[in-house]
Amino acid sequence: VLGLAGPARADTYPQRPITMVVPFAAGGPTDVVARIVAEHMSRSLGQQVVIENVTGAGGTTGITRAAQAAPDGYTIMMGHMGTHGAAPALFKGLKYDPAKSFDPIGMAAGTPIVIVARKDFAAADLKAFIAAVKSGGPSINQAHAGVGSVSHSTGILFDAKVGAKPTLVVYRGTGPALNDLMAGQVDFMTDQIVNVAPQITGGTIKAYAIATPERSPALPDVPTTREAGLDDYEVSAWNAVFAPKGLPKEVAAKLEAALGKALEDETTRKRILDLGGTVPASAERGPAALQTLVESEVARWTPVLRAAADGTP
Ligand code: MLT
Repeated sequence: VLGLAGPARADTYPQRPITMVVPFAAGGPTDVVARIVAEHMSRSLGQQVVIENVTGAGGTTGITRAAQAAPDGYTIMMGHMGTHGAAPALFKGLKYDPAKSFDPIGMAAGTPIVIVARKDFAAADLKAFIAAVKSGGPSINQAHAGVGSVSHSTGILFDAKVGAKPTLVVYRGTGPALNDLMAGQVDFMTDQIVNVAPQITGGTIKAYAIATPERSPALPDVPTTREAGLDDYEVSAWNAVFAPKGLPKEVAAKLEAALGKALEDETTRKRILDLGGTVPASAERGPAALQTLVESEVARWTPVLRAAADGTP
């Protein structure tokens, strides 16, 4: 029958595998969250949701490419607080607008920030760590996943807050950065809990504090920044699924439903929670809530990050 292969057959979607672009290296926090939700979404959509890692430029390379893909539901992406919140503050020529270039599908997971260091870093607690990072100056190496990424934006915020000027070492994601932290090649980073919780528990790296008001059930021994004496450094990242703008409504609804089902599934939830991630309540995770979040995050981060970046060597 002629016409069956038309571009947007919303009623029969999906008829082939869906690519979910992860804009950072495999094995890192975005990749971990994406693979957890993609696995369940594949089952309810009846087609594989295949992860494609497109790395570089703090996640903006992959998000730019995904934003420019056909809005047919066969290319979606896992964005986060960096790519869809911090990046506009730090990239002059950003080729997408987090609030305008996408159809938001929904939130996937909240990921609190943990201040982590190589396991033999001498400081016994956060106060001693801050003193060591300040006095060490450029001899201290701080890892991050590229300008505008979560680890970069929360990292320069930390440096500005405590008055430290370490050497920044860039990676294609905090997955590879974590490998170097475990090997003692870099000194510290501020990273999303889902990437580092197992290594903290296993003792291959150390955690000085978690930047949330309450301790995490996944890391009950790690003090909050406030408990450890660093007030006003509370920051949590979020990870969310977006599609290029212009998705047929039925396709958007199917993706939203599949993501929602994944986050209602006990096994999927447990995988996120066990890593210290949080699962947003249903009222807080749909397209409208995500659109509001993106707009408020861009507005919130832009002045803060421009100020912090100016203070960075
Ligand atoms: C990653 O997956 O590597 C991270 O989300 C990077 C970051 O934004 O720090």
